[in-house]
Amino acid sequence: MVRVLFVCLGNICRSPTAEGVFRKLVTEQGMERTIDIDSAGTHAYHINEPPDQRAVQAAAYREIDLTRIRGRKATLKDFDHFDYLLAMDEENKHNLLSIAPSDLAHKVRLLMEFSNSFNEREVPDPYWGGASGFDRVLDMIEDASRGLLADIRARYQL
Ligand code: 4NP
Repeated sequence: MVRVLFVCLGNICRSPTAEGVFRKLVTEQGMERTIDIDSAGTHAYHINEPPDQRAVQAAAYREIDLTRIRGRKATLKDFDHFDYLLAMDEENKHNLLSIAPSDLAHKVRLLMEFSNSFNEREVPDPYWGGASGFDRVLDMIEDASRGLLADIRARYQL
């Protein structure tokens, strides 16, 4: 099993979107029993809450269901459990690294490192903006997800 955790600030916009996008891609590839997928936030503002309605709606247009996801905060155990801890932006990455055991810090990366079509290194926080921000988040995450899956296939010979 390869385990992937997507991480943002609140776990209600970007990281649940990434969880849903990547799960759809992995399922389409018949790899849902091989790759375990979850998401978390670096802060506790939205624990047990469903994703932001704007994120749910933008994803639903692309036939991605986020409604069963509930917010949780990233914990120390996540560094043991997951193979990839993928931060949406530098602040999330910094926050993860500030609690990461030093021998596991290499698991923390930026999701956009796996993108082939976008130059941006960060998925911008759409929380304070309009609906178009959520579509752009989806575009970026869909692209990075394809690169991530290619990386997993190569690394684990899947
Ligand atoms: P996310 O977006 O990190 O992509 O889930 C945010 C969600 C909530 C807040 C900020 C960003 N907030 O300040 O509550």
